[in-house]
Amino acid sequence: MPTPLLEVNDLWVEFKRPGGIVHAVNGVSFSLQPGESLGIVGESGSGKSVAMLALTGLIARNGKIVRGEALFDGEDLTRLSAHELREIRGRDIGMIFQDPMTSLNPIMRIGKQITEGMLLRNYPPAQAKARATELLRRVGIPNPEQRFNDYPFQFSGGMRQRVMIALALALKPKLIIADEPTTALDVTIQDQVLTLLDELREEIGMALIIITHDFGVATNHCDRISVMYAGELMETARVDQLIARTAHPYSVGLLESTMEIGHGKQPIQPIPGNPPSAMIVHKACPFAPRCRFGTEQCFEQKPPLRRVEAGHLSACHYAEEVMQHVAEQIHS
Ligand SMILES: Nc1ncnc2c1ncn2[C@@H]1O[C@H](COP(=O)(O)OP(=O)(O)O)[C@@H](O)[C@H]1O
Ligand SMILES: [Mg+2]
Repeated sequence: MPTPLLEVNDLWVEFKRPGGIVHAVNGVSFSLQPGESLGIVGESGSGKSVAMLALTGLIARNGKIVRGEALFDGEDLTRLSAHELREIRGRDIGMIFQDPMTSLNPIMRIGKQITEGMLLRNYPPAQAKARATELLRRVGIPNPEQRFNDYPFQFSGGMRQRVMIALALALKPKLIIADEPTTALDVTIQDQVLTLLDELREEIGMALIIITHDFGVATNHCDRISVMYAGELMETARVDQLIARTAHPYSVGLLESTMEIGHGKQPIQPIPGNPPSAMIVHKACPFAPRCRFGTEQCFEQKPPLRRVEAGHLSACHYAEEVMQHVAEQIHS
């Protein structure tokens, strides 16, 4: 295995709230190779955004990393100062959010926003402008020379998303973290924007983390997927493994509730029940109360995230049985 670009080990993130402690991320570990794309999937509130934002120093002030390390290019992000993280965010890690307006300044011309970081790093102005125009062209903005001087509100939602991608790419990052990048867009535009990200990833050789509640988005656009539940990782696998040899009941539920790729021929089935409160620290499997495979052991002992085959991890006591069940379903 080559050295990972990002290696997160046992990450824990908490928030202080008047009612107590919110345990948002509980012992998450994963790694990412240069140029690879990883999907982080799970229901709303499962800790996907907090995990990624914590790594880049962007969580709210009432939150903190209480344990863990995150080696990015050999440097532990959890030990860097706010200033150092800000440097890394612009230069090495680009961020894309659901709402472009969280990244774009509404009262600054987009050309100025895209060139700003380059100028700060002493790019000659003409070169910065040429690169910004080229980036706008590359992400599919027609007439980039003219649009360079427009403000964000002069673009449609899909076009604003593209401007934000151009902005995130300006300093040639090694990694883009895209948090529900297309959730607010209609399906056709959603697919265009994600396909654009795929192409750029190949061209530039950057790695990509897509955070999404939409299993279909992750299976279509990622090499590997990590499934989160209640702030913990349930399963990590290559997309083909996750679909054909699913090894966690929660992933089975997510697959079954995703129309095109559900196992078997039944209609879409949402997973019964609700995720647990984030105020609880789970001493056993957090998914047990909703799990159709659950036994007494699942309510008593926490299943460790363990290897079930090469490149495939599951945090289920009965991972092998689940894989067997999935195989039988597929062949029935
Ligand atoms: N600033 C905050 N204060 C308290 N709790 C928070 C804060 N930000 C996020 N949380 C909680 O952390 C948990 C994980 O949230 P998040 O990572 O945003 O979920 P998602 O998987 O939908 O991205 C949720 O329970 C959320 O309410
Ligand atoms: Mg989120």
